[in-house]
Amino acid sequence: MEFNDTEYINSLFIFKDRATKLLNKIVTDTPDKKYDTIVDIGCGTGVVTQMLAHRLMVDHIYGIDIDSGVIEFAKHTHNESNIQYINQDISAEWYELAPGLRALEGRVSLVFSSACFQWIDNKRNAMKNIYRLLKNGGKICADIMQIPDLFEGFPDMYEKFTGNIQNIPTKVQQMNVWSDLFQEFNLKIISQEFILENHTIPEKAFIDHFMPMLICLWAKYWIDYSKVRDEVQHLIYERS
Ligand SMILES: C[S@@+](CC[C@H](N)C(=O)[O-])C[C@H]1O[C@@H](n2cnc3c(N)ncnc32)[C@H](O)[C@@H]1O
Repeated sequence: MEFNDTEYINSLFIFKDRATKLLNKIVTDTPDKKYDTIVDIGCGTGVVTQMLAHRLMVDHIYGIDIDSGVIEFAKHTHNESNIQYINQDISAEWYELAPGLRALEGRVSLVFSSACFQWIDNKRNAMKNIYRLLKNGGKICADIMQIPDLFEGFPDMYEKFTGNIQNIPTKVQQMNVWSDLFQEFNLKIISQEFILENHTIPEKAFIDHFMPMLICLWAKYWIDYSKVRDEVQHLIYERS
C-alpha cells in the first residue's frame, strides 16, 4: 500500500504526544543509559523512531511495522544512519520473521512501542518473539492504548447492540492480558501506570481518521462488524 496521506500524517499528533511522554520517562529514569540495540515495534511513519535516535544514546535502531507503505514512507522521511526499517508483523512465527530481525536474537536492550500493541491479534506470538529478541536485562517500554467501552454512558445502546457483542473486556482486563503474558515469559513489571487522557481532535481528522480506526479496533475485538457497521458509525458521529 502506498502511504502518502498528509492529512492522516498530520492527525497522528496524538500518538507523537503519547510517545514523547514515554520517551521523556525513559530519559528521566535512566539519563546516562547507553543502548546497543533498540527495536521500535509498530514504528509507523518513523517520526518516533527518529526521536529515539535523537534523544537516546544508541548504536542501532530497528523500526518495524506490519504496513509496507508506512515503512517505505519512514525510510524516505525519518532516516538516520543508525536506523533500519523492516516491514514485519511482530506476531508472525519466529521462522517467518525477516532474517535481519531474527539476527537480533538475544541482542536487544530496549523494545520500545507506542500505540501499537492494542492492534496485535496474536499477542502470545508477539511476546514470544519480543522475548527472544531481548538480551538478558533488556527492557520493554510500551504505551498500550485501552479500547474504550463504546457504550459507556449509553445503556440503551448497550441493549440495542447486545446480540452482536461477543465480549467487552474492561480496561483492567485488557491490561491484564499483557501483565499475564509478561508473567508467562518471566518478565518482571518494573512500573505500570494507567493514564487517562483527553484529546481535542479537529472534527475532520476525527471523522476521517480516528473514527474509522476506533471502529476497526472495536470491530476487531467485540462486534460482528458487518451487521452493525452503520449503526456503530452513527453512534460515534452522535458522540463526537
Ligand atoms: C497508531 S500507529 C503508531 C505509530 C508510531 N508508533 C507512532 O507512535 O507514531 C500503530 C502502528 O502499529 C502498526 N502495527 C499494527 N499491528 C502490528 C503488528 N502486528 N506488527 C507490527 N506493526 C504493527 C501499524 O501498522 C501502525 O503503523
